[in-house]
Amino acid sequence: MDNKLYEYLKSDFETIFSTKLSKVLPQLNHSSFLITGATGLIGKYLSYFLIYLVEKKGFDLDLTFSSYGEAELNQAFGFSKASVHLLPGDITKGLPFDGKADYVIHLASNANPALYMQKPIDTELGIIVGTNNVLSLASKSNSKRVFFASTTDVYGNPIKSGPLSEDDIGVFNCNSLRGVYNEAKRAAESLCQGWISEKGLDVVIGRFSRLFGPTANFNSSLASVAFFKKAVLNEPIEILKPTTARYSFTYVGNAVAAILHLLICGKSGQAYNIATKDCLAEVDGFAKQIITGSGSQSDIIYKSERTKGHDVILETGKLEASGFEAPFGSNYGIEKTAIKLKAGLF
Ligand SMILES: NC(=O)c1ccc[n+]([C@@H]2O[C@H](COP(=O)([O-])OP(=O)(O)OC[C@H]3O[C@@H](n4cnc5c(N)ncnc54)[C@H](O)[C@@H]3O)[C@@H](O)[C@H]2O)c1
Repeated sequence: MDNKLYEYLKSDFETIFSTKLSKVLPQLNHSSFLITGATGLIGKYLSYFLIYLVEKKGFDLDLTFSSYGEAELNQAFGFSKASVHLLPGDITKGLPFDGKADYVIHLASNANPALYMQKPIDTELGIIVGTNNVLSLASKSNSKRVFFASTTDVYGNPIKSGPLSEDDIGVFNCNSLRGVYNEAKRAAESLCQGWISEKGLDVVIGRFSRLFGPTANFNSSLASVAFFKKAVLNEPIEILKPTTARYSFTYVGNAVAAILHLLICGKSGQAYNIATKDCLAEVDGFAKQIITGSGSQSDIIYKSERTKGHDVILETGKLEASGFEAPFGSNYGIEKTAIKLKAGLF
């Protein structure tokens, strides 16, 4: 069970609770929550923070955590002293939920590029049909607000250089396998608009940059996960296709604080970029930051010549203007992730 991970994250939770978010968090007290994708990188961190609010801060929350399988839910949450409901199920088929959910945080999705190339149909339907099912469930439950997890990938290949604001749009070839995830997330965002307009649902959308953190599945094939594993073992990190493109990378603790902030302070129907300014890098630049932050001796090995690429950097002014302050620096997040891996807490 993941009680060690929960204990490990408590110092993060104290930090989040010491920021100005703690002034508005009481607005979420005496509420019910449904989290889909609760066993993932973001979902586990968020769910543990909600358990912490109940166990350590005396919040009265009714918590339902949902994910594909019962075993992974028990593994993640079986330790909790706070009473939580576990709801296994495939969102594409609809969740057997008839409880109350004041807040629905919809994170469930295939989020692994290798997997969405292998399972494009499940990926696309999981996002479009699954999101429709979750929005329908929220409507039946008279939810106060839904948070939908979108992505920087909706920008496609940006047509301008420099940071992307929420009004920018990019291009990509929809008639391609690589378009499956991007197109589905775009369609799901417009589906949210449909449920707002036709059914009066309240939905906020967060577009996450590339995320990292100790709650990641360290068996996944994500590049950042591979970098952390190689760095803590002092093994060479291979960069298969180096490019000049720079990306925003964000610690999961900042992403979770932003979700909670937007549940309270976001405006319905609006999309917000979720990223921090202090971690913009080329992929190999991020690998170098991981090597430094992990105290590693790893080298970087380039497997091909560097090609020219489009920057995908998120402008964060809209999130900040709504009053959000990121609790963590990115170097902290890198160290926190590496220490967990070194200690074998997984
Ligand atoms: N991690 C990132 O860098 C990142 C970046 C941008 C957007 N996002 C989005 O944020 C959300 C959460 O990402 P994550 O990194 O925590 O994902 P993850 O891959 O770590 O976890 C995904 C979760 O969704 C569940 N899930 C997937 N398909 C499901 C289905 N059909 N039915 C029920 N459960 C299902 C999995 O069991 C797991 O709990 C996703 O919607 C993702 O697209 C993530």
